[in-house]
Amino acid sequence: MSSQTPAAAGYDELASAIDPQVVHRLPDIGKLVSLPHTTYALLTLLMKEDTQAKDLERVLSQDPALTAKVISLSNSAFYALEQPVSSLERAILVIGFKELEFMAMGLGLSETFDLSSVPANFDGEGLWLHSLSVSFIAREIAVVSKAVEPSEAMITGLLHELGLIILVSKFPSQFQQLMELVNAGMSLFDAESALGLRHDVIGYMLAFNWNLPRVFQEGILYHHRPKEAPEFKKMTAAAALADILAHKIGYPVPMEALEVDLDYSLKTLNISVPTLQNLIKDLMEKIPRAHPLWLEMMRSGQAKNRGLRSKAASFLEPDEKVRPGRS
Ligand SMILES: [Fe+2]
Ligand SMILES: [Fe+2]
Repeated sequence: MSSQTPAAAGYDELASAIDPQVVHRLPDIGKLVSLPHTTYALLTLLMKEDTQAKDLERVLSQDPALTAKVISLSNSAFYALEQPVSSLERAILVIGFKELEFMAMGLGLSETFDLSSVPANFDGEGLWLHSLSVSFIAREIAVVSKAVEPSEAMITGLLHELGLIILVSKFPSQFQQLMELVNAGMSLFDAESALGLRHDVIGYMLAFNWNLPRVFQEGILYHHRPKEAPEFKKMTAAAALADILAHKIGYPVPMEALEVDLDYSLKTLNISVPTLQNLIKDLMEKIPRAHPLWLEMMRSGQAKNRGLRSKAASFLEPDEKVRPGRS
């Protein structure tokens, strides 16, 4: 998957709308960045509708450390289990394998794209929290609107800032230049355009190279301009709306000013203003409960990169609980 490159004729018709200048600084990004086997296998599972618990067990059996982290997170306060779980089978039984699939993939992504040692002055954790919150909100939007499939919305939300995550974690010198322009007063969009580093396009190019389904490719490419999505207008609108709500609720992308047409997304998803108000009320109750789980997911994914992977094996220790707050 990760070794695949675009066809000689170039990217598909989606890419024909892309001015090559917007990403001229990273021409071979698809070859430079790949997903680890387990993470890709988990993503593939999530994208299929007919997977079963045994499929998740099979994939995770190849990565005992990741399995230990999944079990550890299953015992976080968010799931409020009466009895702590100590095996994957038990966790699947009480939490559900789809939820655990998503958790494992989030762990895998945060392990692959370490944002814990990003350039000074940039809030790497904030970027992960933004991605996880948009994922959570996009799923809620899908459930409320019934306009898109909830698990697809969840993945689109998780991946929509893929380009920015890659830039921050894998291309620190280019990202540093970007930050200098932003710190000098330029918008993120203008700075990215000036440097040929548009994060929406970079994310799309990766998604294309990784052969992710078209719905995710469009969601990533058009999350800042959902009206232009050629095929998956509803999913792109759901991602854009989730993006707006995440910013409003306190999970913005560091440095990014959001200018998305709220009315367009509401209309496309057939969400009324009272429904939106109820949704926000609901999110305000649910998100504080999910926040510690997101932190734990992010930090335990990145623990590998800080040489603390063995810490995951301590999942049965009673003090290995969720830490309140972000520091
Ligand atoms: Fe973005
Ligand atoms: Fe975003």
